[in-house]
Formats: sequence, C-alpha cells, structure tokens
Amino acid sequence: MAMALPDVLLCCLWVVWHGQPGLGLPLAPAGCRSPAAAVEQFWHVTDLHLDPTYHITDDHTKVCASSKGINASNPGPFGDVMCDSPYKLILSAFDFIKNSGQNASFMIWTGDSPPHVPVYELSTDTVITVIANMTKTIRSLFPKLQVFPALGNHDYWPQDQLPTFNSKVYNAVADLWKPWLDEEAIQTLRKGGFYSQKVPNNLNLRIISLNTNLYYGPNIMTLNKSDPANQFEWLENTLNTSQQNKEKVYIIAHIPVGYLPFSQNTTAMREHYNEKLINIFRKYSNVIAGQFYGHTHKDSIMVVSDAKGSPINSAFVAPAVTPVKGTLQKQTNNPGIRLFQYDPHDYKLLDILQYYLNLTDANLKGESNWKLEYILTKTYNIEDLQPSSLYELAKEFATPDSEKFVKYYNYYYVSYNSSVICSEKCKAFQICAIMNLDQNSYVACLKHYYIKSNL
Ligand SMILES: *[C@@H]1O[C@H](CO)[C@@H](O)[C@H](O)[C@H]1NC(C)=O
Ligand SMILES: *[C@@H]1O[C@H](CO)[C@@H](O)[C@H](O)[C@H]1NC(C)=O
Ligand SMILES: *[C@@H]1O[C@H](CO)[C@@H](O)[C@H](O)[C@H]1NC(C)=O
Ligand SMILES: *[C@@H]1O[C@H](CO)[C@@H](O)[C@H](O)[C@H]1NC(C)=O
Ligand SMILES: *[C@@H]1O[C@H](CO)[C@@H](O)[C@H](O)[C@H]1NC(C)=O
Ligand SMILES: *[C@@H]1O[C@H](CO)[C@@H](O)[C@H](O)[C@H]1NC(C)=O
Ligand SMILES: *[C@@H]1O[C@H](CO)[C@@H](O)[C@H](O)[C@H]1NC(C)=O
Ligand SMILES: *[C@@H]1O[C@H](CO)[C@@H](O)[C@H](O)[C@H]1NC(C)=O
Ligand SMILES: [Zn+2]
Ligand SMILES: [Zn+2]
Repeated sequence: MAMALPDVLLCCLWVVWHGQPGLGLPLAPAGCRSPAAAVEQFWHVTDLHLDPTYHITDDHTKVCASSKGINASNPGPFGDVMCDSPYKLILSAFDFIKNSGQNASFMIWTGDSPPHVPVYELSTDTVITVIANMTKTIRSLFPKLQVFPALGNHDYWPQDQLPTFNSKVYNAVADLWKPWLDEEAIQTLRKGGFYSQKVPNNLNLRIISLNTNLYYGPNIMTLNKSDPANQFEWLENTLNTSQQNKEKVYIIAHIPVGYLPFSQNTTAMREHYNEKLINIFRKYSNVIAGQFYGHTHKDSIMVVSDAKGSPINSAFVAPAVTPVKGTLQKQTNNPGIRLFQYDPHDYKLLDILQYYLNLTDANLKGESNWKLEYILTKTYNIEDLQPSSLYELAKEFATPDSEKFVKYYNYYYVSYNSSVICSEKCKAFQICAIMNLDQNSYVACLKHYYIKSNL
C-alpha cells in the first residue's frame, strides 16, 4: 500500500489545480476522491406501501389489513414483518432524511405506495388517496426538493393493470406531481405513465422515468402488445436525442430489468420485453449513467454487459421501506433508504450510502433509530460504482467462501438476519442475476456456476 499516499496527494493537487469551474479543462480522473473533489447526492426511496389500517391491538389478526387475517408476529409502533408500513414508519424515514445533515440535489421515488391487500379492499379512489397522501407528506417535509417519481405495479387499481392509454390514475398523479414536473413530462405521464425531464441545476443530466409495469407478467392490458403505449419507441427517441445533445441519463423505474435474484431463470418483467429493453440499454450505454429500480424490496446490484460480455452499465435495486413479507417467506428486509453520490461534472456514480431501521430494535425501544448500514465502496473495498468495478466485485463474490458475498447476502435483506445462509444454489442464482441480464448469458451463467458443479 506504499503507493496509496502519493496517489491521493497527487489527486488532491490535481483537483486544486484544475477544479475551478468554467475553465474548460478535462475532468478529474476516475477514483479521485479527495474532500476537495465535488460530489453531489440524491436520495432513492421506494416501496413505501402505506397500510393506513395499522394499529396496535391485542388480537394480532387485526393489527393490519395487509396481514390478510394472519397474526402479526411482534407488532410495535414502527410496524411488523407481517404488515405493510404504518404511517409512523414512513414519517420516521422522511424525518431521518430531513435531519440527516446530507445535502441532496434531488430525490427519486420508484413507486408502490398502496398496501398489499386483496383487490376488493381497494378502489381507484383509495389508491389515489394513498398516492396523494405520500406525495403531500413528501412535499410538506421537503417543499423545495425536486422529486422524480415512477409508478409501481401497486399504484393502480386493480393492481398491476396499468393501461397503455390515459386513465384516472395517470391524470391524478399528473396533477399531484405537477410541482415537480414540466409540461412535456406531464403530457406523457397522462398518456402512458412515463416521462423524461432534465434535472434542475445539473445542466446535462436527464431523468427517464419508465412505466415498466406495462411489461410486468400479471398486466393483462399489455398481453400480445409488442410496444405497449409506444414506450420503447419513445425511449429510443429520447435516448437518441440525449446522445445528440451530449446529455447523460439516469433511468428510473419500478419493475427492474434482469433476473430475480432469488429464483431460477425468472425475469422480473416478461422475458421478451426484458430482451428488448436490454438491447436498447446496450445501444445507448454511453448515454446511460445509471439505472435505479425498486419492486423486489431487497437490496441488489446488476451489471449490464454488451453482447460480448463486457460490462457497460450499472443498475441498482433499492430495498423497500415496508418490512412486509409473505406468509411462506422465511426472511424479510428491514426498512431501508439510500443516498447516491455522483460526480456533477459527468454524472458518474461514485457511491451508495445505505441507511436502515432495525425494526426489532425500534419497536423494542419505541423510537426510530435510522442509521448507516454500509458505504458501498468502503464495505467492498472498490473504487466506485462503475460497471467494471461492480463486475470485478461480482467475480469476487463468485469465488468459493467469498466473505464479501456473505456481506452482500446480509445486506440483500437489509441486515434483517445476519445468520441467514445462502446455499450454493441460492448463490448461483444471486451471482447470475448480478452479472447476466439477458437470456443467453443468464442460462450460460447458471450452467457455469450451478448446473455444472451439481451434476
Ligand atoms: C393468532 O394467535 C392466537 C393467539 O396465539 C391464536 O389463538 C390464533 O389461532 C391465531 N390465529 C391465526 C389465524 O393464526
Ligand atoms: C447543497 O448543494 C447545493 C447544490 O446541490 C448547493 O447549491 C448548496 O450550496 C449546498 N449547501 C450546503 C449547505 O452544502
Ligand atoms: C396520511 O395518512 C395517515 C395515516 O392514515 C394520516 O395520519 C395522515 O394524516 C395522512 N396525511 C395526509 C397528508 O393525507
Ligand atoms: C395473445 O397471444 C396468445 C399466444 O401467445 C394467444 O393465445 C391469445 O389468444 C392472444 N390474445 C389476444 C387478445 O390476442
Ligand atoms: C439516432 O437518430 C438518428 C436520426 O434519426 C439516426 O441517424 C441514428 O442512427 C440514431 N442513433 C442510433 C444510435 O440509433
Ligand atoms: C430458462 O427459461 C427459458 C425460457 O423460459 C427456457 O427456454 C430455458 O430452457 C430455461 N433454462 C433453464 C436452464 O431452465
Ligand atoms: C437489531 O436489534 C436487535 C434488538 O435490539 C438486535 O438483537 C440485533 O442484533 C440488531 N441487528 C443489527 C443488525 O444490528
Ligand atoms: C435467522 O436465520 C436463521 C437461519 O436461516 C433462522 O434459523 C432464524 O430463525 C432466523 N431468525 C429470524 C429472527 O428470522
Ligand atoms: Zn412493492
Ligand atoms: Zn412492486
């Protein structure tokens, strides 16, 4: 490590020398992380899943509608693993963000506000009421913060059935989100639930908020449609224009691309849509500086590779605020929120600060104690969040007995249970989901890491 110190010094000098804005000098070298180097930040929150019925009562089957008649397991003021979020939990997350002392340029919010309850217990109006409640909660705590929302599969009634045309819900969110979005964004939001918009004070950065719920398996509105709501065409045109205008793009959406890390050979969205999206991302990988998703409720990373297998894009699935789990699931996640750091000169992603609430502890003490769970580059000892850095990390994960992978798997559940063990099969699914987002490479990966070693 003798070389480390001079490198850092050199780096600091470089920034002092070249750091003044507007001189038209080349950007600071990658990995230059001295305190003098400019870093900007944004928050990512997802899967709030408010359950307005949550309340403490002796009959544990009646604590929350989202437990669907099952006993809550250990209900406290901040929630229960059989229930979606009490309002108090969601408020504690936003209060933490507000009081964290962190300065963020914007926030992304990737959907799923209503609770997991049977379809007949909700309606278009109750779904809109919950989304309105969350929007007003965020607006009142952060009146000046720019927020970029994306719609989730639960942000509709009946759930998952987001349509390819104008609807009451699209109109309602367009009205609710007007303070954050420009006229063009509002227009496409009304038509198809998606939009793109430049980030204020970040001259060449654009957010593309996709409605990937149109590609979700249970959505019967889009069965047999090759390009629902013409979103693929719109996405290509938008990326093409961004490329010509030398912008960088952050993709945000609810349902992620790629394979689910907990099951074999299952994409999060319909397979043919996944292939189509991956191809678009490959074509425009030099424009896309990051991809951000929710929906699985777990913390995972993905690396998009080109057709030859070289890493070209980084994608991140953020864990949920809701701690809810299904009755058959053994594990769940603690509530989580995260802060991304990026370089404001080229919008390269530098780091993640992942925060969490120890739900058991918060309920025990009767107070929310949100804290830092990990800093990604520090916990894995990597340079930054660039595709090549994450790809090398994933290769390290894949080695037998990798301690870094043990960490990753604990963080996957937001430190809910550090004694949880990922079997060889489980590990193969995790690794292949990180490194392979298209069918050909995924199937080859499973053969390599799992099937071969188990025959
Ligand atoms: C809930 O817990 C109570 C008390 O332990 C028990 O009597 C009841 O059968 C449980 N109900 C369900 C649906 O599991
Ligand atoms: C926070 O960041 C903004 C730009 O993102 C900057 O204008 C402002 O001065 C910063 N405030 C503090 C207290 O660092
Ligand atoms: C949101 O819902 C919670 C729980 O039902 C309620 O206490 C709160 O007042 C609502 N807030 C807004 C802004 O609607
Ligand atoms: C959609 O395609 C399936 C086969 O993939 C076919 O069975 C079905 O009839 C089609 N539905 C419609 C509405 O076209
Ligand atoms: C972008 O659009 C232009 C004009 O239609 C076209 O010539 C170019 O090939 C497109 N770029 C890509 C990467 O497809
Ligand atoms: C994975 O799924 C695809 C399409 O659903 C199928 O063709 C393929 O045989 C499956 N591969 C494995 C290894 O299960
Ligand atoms: C969460 O809190 C419980 C109860 O205080 C404690 O036993 C557990 O170790 C904590 N988990 C973590 C990851 O700190
Ligand atoms: C943690 O995981 C271990 C191993 O799977 C399991 O035996 C234990 O019951 C789990 N603890 C909790 C609190 O879920
Ligand atoms: Zn969700
Ligand atoms: Zn979802």
